[in-house]
Amino acid sequence: MKMRVADIRDVASDVRVFTLRHATRTVLPAPEPGAHVDVRLPDGKVRQYSLCGDPDDASQYVIAVKREPAGRGGSVWLHDTIKLGDTLQVSAPRNHFALVELPARYILIAGGIGVTPMLPMTRRLRKIGADYVLHYCSSMSHPPFCGLLGEISGPSLQVYSSSPAAAAPRRLDIAVALSEVAPSTHVYCCGPARLMNAVREATAHWPEAQIHFEAFKPLVDENFVPEAFDLVLSSTGSRLHVPAEKSALDVLRESGISTSSSCEIGVCGSCACGYVSGDVIHRDAFLSPTARKSRLALCVSRGKGTIVLDL
Ligand code: FES
Repeated sequence: MKMRVADIRDVASDVRVFTLRHATRTVLPAPEPGAHVDVRLPDGKVRQYSLCGDPDDASQYVIAVKREPAGRGGSVWLHDTIKLGDTLQVSAPRNHFALVELPARYILIAGGIGVTPMLPMTRRLRKIGADYVLHYCSSMSHPPFCGLLGEISGPSLQVYSSSPAAAAPRRLDIAVALSEVAPSTHVYCCGPARLMNAVREATAHWPEAQIHFEAFKPLVDENFVPEAFDLVLSSTGSRLHVPAEKSALDVLRESGISTSSSCEIGVCGSCACGYVSGDVIHRDAFLSPTARKSRLALCVSRGKGTIVLDL
């Protein structure tokens, strides 16, 4: 969709909120809590941003973008180039972080800009009268969205600022926050890798269906050395060699096999593909342990020996 930038607002020195409206469509595909949209950049690449507006307002999409000078360029372009009235190419929302609306207790854990999907989530949880707590960790003395989150959540909001300039600096003790395992408790976490890894470890013994993560950055493993492997297409038996310097997605494309993709860093899920057999080295940030038994992200995951794809 081509969407017009209807409003721009700074909520921190490096966080800018963009409100996007369609020229003719007054009702957009529903902005469900946890969903994100892809924003297309001038070079054709896309970036994912969580929707952070009111999930009951389908007249517009709202995204918050943290300017990351050392990032891959998307946030700097949005901050430095996009002005009020400009047009952005935006996908319909996709949701890998959907709120399970059961009679449940919810523990939401956000770090930094990872708070954005929690805004619509807390609005929805408040609306349905759910029992929840949002732990919001930030390195800033005045974390963005605190006022709005406080209005939505009242005492259900717990803010942890590690900044020495904060009125009362404190850090989240994840072990304490996740100490009550109940069959009906769902955990949602979005933030930096260190925070998500800590939550992963603390919930390793929880049922998988109760733990939900949203990542916007690739998994970083500086020690990983890619090696060549082979793909076999189960429908035809064709064998394709994936050299160390290419991805499975690259090789499939070069062979004329069209597969969808978007982020190409293992976070969006659009290139996920089934596999029938093989020893997969999973390097994505979105598949659950169960999903990894039968699916892989073609853009980043690799294999040992031969992987037979369900293609
Ligand atoms: S293209 Fe986004 S996970 Fe592969």
